[in-house]
Amino acid sequence: MLSRHQIEIVQSTLPLLESAGTAITEHFYGRMFRENPELKDIFNLSHQHSGQQPVALFNAILAYARYLDNPAVLAQAIERIAHKHTGFQIRPEQYDIVGHHLLETIRELAPDAATPEVLDAWGQAYGQLAAIFIGREEEIYASAEQAAGGWRGKRRFRLVAKTAESELVTSFVWSPVDGGPVMDFKPGQYLSLSVSHPSLAHHEYRQYSLSDAPNGNTYRISVKRESGTPAGQISNYLHDHVDVGDELDLLPPAGDFFLDVDADTPVVLLSGGVGLTPLLSMLNQLSRSGHRAPVHYLHACENGRQHAFRDQVASLARDQEHIHSFVWYREPLAEDRIDQDYDATGLIDLAPLRDSILRDDTQFYFCGPLAFMRAVYRQLKDWDVDDARLHYELFGPHQTLTGE
Ligand SMILES: Cc1cc2nc3c(=O)[nH]c(=O)nc-3n(C[C@H](O)[C@H](O)[C@H](O)COP(=O)(O)OP(=O)(O)OC[C@H]3O[C@@H](n4cnc5c(N)ncnc54)[C@H](O)[C@@H]3O)c2cc1C
Ligand code: HEM
Repeated sequence: MLSRHQIEIVQSTLPLLESAGTAITEHFYGRMFRENPELKDIFNLSHQHSGQQPVALFNAILAYARYLDNPAVLAQAIERIAHKHTGFQIRPEQYDIVGHHLLETIRELAPDAATPEVLDAWGQAYGQLAAIFIGREEEIYASAEQAAGGWRGKRRFRLVAKTAESELVTSFVWSPVDGGPVMDFKPGQYLSLSVSHPSLAHHEYRQYSLSDAPNGNTYRISVKRESGTPAGQISNYLHDHVDVGDELDLLPPAGDFFLDVDADTPVVLLSGGVGLTPLLSMLNQLSRSGHRAPVHYLHACENGRQHAFRDQVASLARDQEHIHSFVWYREPLAEDRIDQDYDATGLIDLAPLRDSILRDDTQFYFCGPLAFMRAVYRQLKDWDVDDARLHYELFGPHQTLTGE
């Protein structure tokens, strides 16, 4: 337990650390990967290149230091990060490595401020945070292990179906090689793939949201081919090299973004592009679970060729009175204008739907590219929707939605 004095010492160094900005985490990652190169098999190095992960870690540490006397404020963030960590099989002893490089980074970048007293206070503060994570992560590992059909660590799965859902998105259905059942998950949660292949410089973990409701036997994920420069490693590997009959290691489902409503709660699901996967799992669950209140599924994508699961969603909306669908194509193709499988063009604009989707108790779940998420968040906040009714997932390191 930190003393009042130690808390004050840690907090007195915050302005200095804040002024160093991301330089401090870049230095931290640089020295950590140099001295502990085995961690390159855990971290997604493309997130290091994009700068997103350094910002996420830096913000988390500063936020924790700021709220040392009231860590309950950070409970939601800690829950999200702990789930994320389990998707990389983070182990207790790895916290010592991270802690060591954090303190060395402070010592190297702020030699004048890094007195033994300051380093000791930071060491204790870090140890306190690490203990919270280690404890929560063990609970998540243990609960997956104890669940019916559950497991701990890696389990071998075989691909039993591979189906193109659009020009860019392909679904992969996995069944355990041991022939046993699989644990249920909460719609919205994700799986982690553990991938080693001679074509990859490092072992890689990737998260993919489960795109169908739980069925006890198989898991379905739906993956967008990332064709940027350089091309996405794992999405292209899955699309080009993994076929029915091939095997891969999966970690148990996890994640703090999941459907949590009763049968009388109105639900609005909003997705942009491949962000539809967790929402589709929720929609399928809502269609099978006897949900009574209205469910609006609002989806935005480029055009008809990139519109995955179009027929499935359309048929749910046609067959079930409480399910409603609305689709935006940013730039419809000539063929789309003939079929008219969309409701509006351009970017997502909720204004015309306000009367049909907004109730005092509506819960909103959304997922998509950052610009989409920020646009949705802004529009819902303009309607004064309370943050407690907004639930979202980003397909990468967490970021705030309040920026432009
Ligand atoms: C909770 C969660 C759920 C997710 N669910 C899904 C899902 O359902 N479906 C789905 O398709 N995806 C999902 N994702 C995203 C998925 O995990 C991967 O991030 C995605 O497939 C890209 O991985 P990749 O290996 O193909 O690309 P990576 O190799 O990780 O590259 C990602 C991007 O970084 C760029 N990049 C790589 N190296 C560099 C460099 N040196 N310099 C500059 N840029 C670089 C690449 O061009 C690419 O655009 C989810 C992510 C999370 C966190
Ligand atoms: C108290 C210490 C730690 C803090 C505050 C912390 C914080 C974070 C944060 C904020 C994220 C981003 C979460 C998100 O996107 O939602 C993250 C992800 C991650 N963390 Fe930690 N972490 C800590 C310890 C560790 C340790 C010990 C390891 C293993 C060596 C580790 C490995 C990872 C990995 C692999 C990711 C995912 C990175 C990615 O998406 O590229 N973390 N962590």
